[in-house]
Amino acid sequence: MASRFSSFMVQHLLLFHFCFHCFSDAQPSLNYTSRPRSIVFKIEKDPLTLQYMIKINQGTPRAAVKLVLDLGGKLPWLRCHKGYKSSSYRPVNCMSPQCALASKPIKCVLCNSTTSWCHSNACNISTTNPITQCVGNGELITDVVTVESNKVQRFMPRVFAFGCATTSNFLHGLAKGAKGVAGLGRSSPLSLISQFSVAFRFSRIFALILDDRFYNSGGGRYHVTYNGDDVGSLLSYTPLLINPKSSEEYFIDLKSIEIIGSSDDGKAVPIHQKLLSINKKTGVGGTKVSLQVPYTTMETSIYKAFVSTYLKKAEALNPELQRVASVAPFDVCFNASTTILDYTFLVMPSIHLVFSKNLTWFFTGLQTLVEVNSDVLCLGFIDGGSNPMTSIVIGTDLYKYNLVEFDIAKSRFGFWKYKYISGIPI
Ligand SMILES: *[C@@H]1O[C@H](CO)[C@@H](O)[C@H](O)[C@H]1NC(C)=O
Ligand SMILES: *[C@@H]1O[C@H](CO)[C@@H](O)[C@H](O)[C@H]1NC(C)=O
Ligand SMILES: *[C@@H]1O[C@H](CO)[C@@H](O)[C@H](O)[C@H]1NC(C)=O
Ligand SMILES: *[C@@H]1O[C@H](CO)[C@@H](O)[C@H](O)[C@H]1NC(C)=O
Ligand SMILES: *[C@@H]1O[C@H](CO)[C@@H](O)[C@H](O)[C@H]1NC(C)=O
Repeated sequence: MASRFSSFMVQHLLLFHFCFHCFSDAQPSLNYTSRPRSIVFKIEKDPLTLQYMIKINQGTPRAAVKLVLDLGGKLPWLRCHKGYKSSSYRPVNCMSPQCALASKPIKCVLCNSTTSWCHSNACNISTTNPITQCVGNGELITDVVTVESNKVQRFMPRVFAFGCATTSNFLHGLAKGAKGVAGLGRSSPLSLISQFSVAFRFSRIFALILDDRFYNSGGGRYHVTYNGDDVGSLLSYTPLLINPKSSEEYFIDLKSIEIIGSSDDGKAVPIHQKLLSINKKTGVGGTKVSLQVPYTTMETSIYKAFVSTYLKKAEALNPELQRVASVAPFDVCFNASTTILDYTFLVMPSIHLVFSKNLTWFFTGLQTLVEVNSDVLCLGFIDGGSNPMTSIVIGTDLYKYNLVEFDIAKSRFGFWKYKYISGIPI
């Protein structure tokens, strides 16, 4: 049993990398040949930091740069403290409307530098490194970005604005090889999503598939199919909420968490409801979807109740299940050879995230456990401390096999509710 299980897991790890990142055209009836119907980026996962990156081509001559995806980022930015070399770039004047859209406060600087990236009347901005939370200075510039669509195989140059961060060591904490950050924030007019939607006349919608191994390339809005079905047309939606203190981020209205084991009683995790709502004055509380956090974190009281319910359900399903010593960063770990693999399903509780209107997003045993080595499986959830800003932060490891859609235009979050994935151990 153990070796069968392990060999499945090895396949998982080997196939982790290439995935899609898609920008969708919500108005398929329009037929502009000069623009793509949607844009698909390959996503690269950095194995060390578990950050996700895309590659864009920019400047003249064209240079490929890798940017770490940041769901809550206001704008794309690059490190420029050693200069930015491109014949097509332009500084944004601090009196321009574009500068007024950039992060506040904005100061006009009259600098006298000989460096190529510093200009008088520069649009001086500050930006935040999403990993270290350090605030750095820089200026807003524009340059040509070329995008290759998967549908229309050609390059379509467009002028994009981005931050040129001049603070040294500002890339600290980002994946090796990354030259900046792709801010995908929901509100800022300078976020990559807003700029793409203006440049290509798209609705403000994008989707992620962090691990595309179950999908085939096909038709439909995202060109991804599973067993012949257009996955993009099978999404379930729950409203996106706005946190007034953190308006770039993607909050969702999680109402409860259920853990499903063999018996049906007491499946809801007891949670203080206040923790699940956003305090409009302080911005504290609620649930958000993250691309920065690999493992889902929960405020301490939620985490404790969650673990205690989970362990009861797990034991009821499999009385032989043996807990072993914790492996950081996880608390709850199991002896892998005491787990039961029933054909391709791991006999462990499944976890339901329940939204309004009883909509559930469910995760099976293997989706919620992390194989830390061939002998040990850990529950992939982490104690987020007793006073976190956000009560529950949904990490990438939980939703990596799903197609998730961020529909800013309709203010809703979509996920694929597949019924059964045959022959695949999830
Ligand atoms: C619409 O686009 C398709 C595919 O690009 C093309 O074959 C077709 O001729 C276009 N139709 C019109 C009316 O332009
Ligand atoms: C810029 O440098 C020139 C010559 O080095 C100097 O005369 C001028 O005062 C400087 N301007 C500012 C704003 O520092
Ligand atoms: C922007 O303003 C900050 C704070 O006034 C300053 O430290 C920084 O050097 C300025 N940036 C540029 C590029 O001049
Ligand atoms: C895990 O379970 C197997 C089989 O019951 C046992 O041989 C092994 O010693 C256990 N490992 C640990 C670390 O407890
Ligand atoms: C949601 O489901 C629960 C139990 O499954 C049920 O008691 C409740 O009435 C349902 N609510 C709605 C709005 O359907």
